[in-house]
Amino acid sequence: MSSLLIDNIGTLVTNDPELGDGPLGLVHGAALVLGDGVVLWAGPRAATPEAAARERLDAGGRAVIPGFVDSHGHLVFAGDRTAEFAARMSGRPYTAGGIRTTVEATRTASSQSLSRNMQRLVAEALRSGTTTIECKSGYGLTVADERRSLEIATEHTDEVTYLGAHVVAPEYADRPDAYVDLVRGAMLDACAPHAGWIDVFCERGAFDGDQTRAILEAGVARGLVPRVHANQLGPGPGVQIAVELDAASADHATHLSDADVAALAGSRTVATLLPAAEFSTRGSYPNARRLLDAGVTVALAADCNPGSSYTTSMPFCIALAVRDLSMTPDEAVWSATMGGARALRRADVGHLGIGARADAVLLDAPSHVHLSYRPGVNLIAAVWRAGARVPIGPPGTAPPTGGDARG
Ligand code: NIG
Ligand code: FE
Repeated sequence: MSSLLIDNIGTLVTNDPELGDGPLGLVHGAALVLGDGVVLWAGPRAATPEAAARERLDAGGRAVIPGFVDSHGHLVFAGDRTAEFAARMSGRPYTAGGIRTTVEATRTASSQSLSRNMQRLVAEALRSGTTTIECKSGYGLTVADERRSLEIATEHTDEVTYLGAHVVAPEYADRPDAYVDLVRGAMLDACAPHAGWIDVFCERGAFDGDQTRAILEAGVARGLVPRVHANQLGPGPGVQIAVELDAASADHATHLSDADVAALAGSRTVATLLPAAEFSTRGSYPNARRLLDAGVTVALAADCNPGSSYTTSMPFCIALAVRDLSMTPDEAVWSATMGGARALRRADVGHLGIGARADAVLLDAPSHVHLSYRPGVNLIAAVWRAGARVPIGPPGTAPPTGGDARG
């Protein structure tokens, strides 16, 4: 079996406390061996096992971290909301209603153009170190358009979420309960075979607590696992419902009561924070410190979508989390890798323990701390996905094979 030795690593983040120091499993002066798509060995370079026929790469004292796991994205869409963003930055507030603009554009777009757009975003994410990415439907809002969105998402990733309950479809504006019946009835029937997860935007202007619970329960009955857009724009029942239904994740989690924090702390539901959404909507940031101090598992994700957060950059989210969510640099890197894996209930990604999928990022920096210490600087020097090095040239140069974040 051919393998790759990445040698002379200044700081290796394994996220495996058995391999190194602290929750990040840090090893200084490290080496990493990848082969057959997985991590074969990780540890201090002096202890590197001998092997024949091995390629060697000298990291030159730079850092290696696990590939980012971005557990929240809305990547199947068409159209442009630049003007809405510009208006917001001139003082207009963000509301859930902007979603309908994208719904209109998405419905009229060809499947080919939707797929190409998603491929572009997945490739962009890969260039910034994201090796696993989740994608939701939610800009179709008819049976056919939601199914189509999920089919397209499945072309590019295995982490696919049915979000027919993103907002009430325009045709049902004065019959929201009929739309809820559709989402948990015929639309679910059409979509369940194409998704692993079900999500609801539980928010004023979208779906209330009763509607959210009814939709998620119908999804669970069809074998889907819930995740919830919860407490994004204001307080509400989303987090409590997520915990009650053992959702994998409560996403946004910005406006929380003490009872919400306690409920999350007593559950296995991950709080997924999306600070790029607060950045792009000039919303108030969630308080990660409060969640972490209570013992809640926190993930960071990009929430890439054309309305509230048009970025695929996990390094940007890490920098925001450190500056504005009161996370330490170590916590932010953990949450963007292992935290995302927890939010997707994946044991094979988000870390570089022995046997993990060989998803690794070489940073052009001596340590992972530079991801927040040097904000806005592209520090991604090389990316491996399942052991294969992916081209990370600028857009328009050779695209990563298939633009695929599968697995
Ligand atoms: O996660 N919150 C709901 N959905 C997206 C926003 C989608 C949009 O504005 O188009 C979010 O922020
Ligand atoms: Fe979202």
